[in-house]
Amino acid sequence: APVSLWGGRFAGGPARALAALSQSTHFDWRLARHDIAGSVAHARVLHRAGLLDDAELATMLDGLSRLHDDVASGAFLPVLADEDVHTALERGLIERAGPEVGGKLRAGRSRNDQIATLVRVYLREEARQVGGLVLDVVDAVLEQARAAGDAPMPGRTHLQHAQPVLLAHHLLAHAWPLLRDVERWVDWDARAARSPYGSGALAGSSLGLDPAAVAAELGFDGPVENSIDGTASRDVVAEFAFVAAMTGVDLSRFAEEIILWATKEFGFVRLDDAYSTGSSIMPQKKNPDIAELARGKAGRLVGDLTGLLTTLKGLPLAYNRDLQEDKEPVFDQVDTLSVLLPAFAGMVATLTFDTDRLAELAPQGFSLATDIAEWLVREGVPFRVAHEVAGACVRVCEQRGIELWDLSEDDLAGISEHLTPGVRSVLTVEGSLASRSATGGTAPVRVAEQLVRARDRSAEL
Ligand code: ARG
Repeated sequence: APVSLWGGRFAGGPARALAALSQSTHFDWRLARHDIAGSVAHARVLHRAGLLDDAELATMLDGLSRLHDDVASGAFLPVLADEDVHTALERGLIERAGPEVGGKLRAGRSRNDQIATLVRVYLREEARQVGGLVLDVVDAVLEQARAAGDAPMPGRTHLQHAQPVLLAHHLLAHAWPLLRDVERWVDWDARAARSPYGSGALAGSSLGLDPAAVAAELGFDGPVENSIDGTASRDVVAEFAFVAAMTGVDLSRFAEEIILWATKEFGFVRLDDAYSTGSSIMPQKKNPDIAELARGKAGRLVGDLTGLLTTLKGLPLAYNRDLQEDKEPVFDQVDTLSVLLPAFAGMVATLTFDTDRLAELAPQGFSLATDIAEWLVREGVPFRVAHEVAGACVRVCEQRGIELWDLSEDDLAGISEHLTPGVRSVLTVEGSLASRSATGGTAPVRVAEQLVRARDRSAEL
């Protein structure tokens, strides 16, 4: 029958159905390493508080060290009767250090402050790890932006041709949100760096234990201010989950464009064979599965965040067992991003853009009409009139099936007296691009500066 940590008050063990429901080792076992590190720190504060003598501390630390090795090698594993990672590891310690000494470790701590601490330790480590993988994607984007040089492409709004932009400018527009996602994890860490250890079940510890010492040993900036908050809050977990979901959403927007760009109709980009898939029936097919999985997994990452927030909604203070449901969503996010990001980085790094096609399409769809309007404004024409005149140019071209630069000097003069031959100077992609030279604009000089700043930012993070 299952054994538990609360024998004293109970006549018998838990029902099998309860044990099956309650069991969490199948997912919280990944915290075992952190749980043991917490126990080592806790053993030291017990010793400092006079609750363990020197010999007991030595026995305890030796037991924990052997347990650590056995966990690492897989020699020690949870069994069906272990409710959670803490229960299993207490059993493992008692098996190694004996019931006398092993049974002393639990003094002054609760699984409530333990789990709240471990999930923070785990997520702080993973935020660095996963953030590094996001930066690998960013670096692949930046390298593509560098390689694109001054190549233009059709910029779109509403998916319609809008204005020509540099391909590098567009690519960098995918790099910045991802850089901000990593920044979010860096900022988040300041809030995650408070240790709930020492909060006990909810009210704090009465045994003269020092939460600051445990916090320091586990790499935290300090302990939490409030033991109830320490055991009951999960906003730090939810904030991690938001950044993970946001990262997924940012990747999915890039993914969707890659999927479109790789179609015959767009023909903007070719995927490398190693980062695309074939069809079991259609021999000609080359599918953008990585991008599609990125788009699909964004839904899952958002679902993890949604599930977690829904678990927290309306939950009274302090600890409730509902909080055990905080871990699987973020574990799933970590696992999802850990497989997705390397594949995504490889796909981006190996994209081949058809820059001739992009250049040919850049001025189509009358995307230089805004340049006519802005040229007129520089000539002193009110923008309201300029907009009308440029619109009239588009209408004439559409009727005649020609492009803006095909309009003769007579055509232009017929549309408006303001349209002197000088307007033709802005009816080129190069002229249009160069004119967008304010900070943040698509002019090649600005984009070159932007690329340097994006690289610096990536290197700093
Ligand atoms: N396994 C629990 C969790 O993940 C921690 C144990 C707290 N259980 C309790 N009955 N107080 O949240």
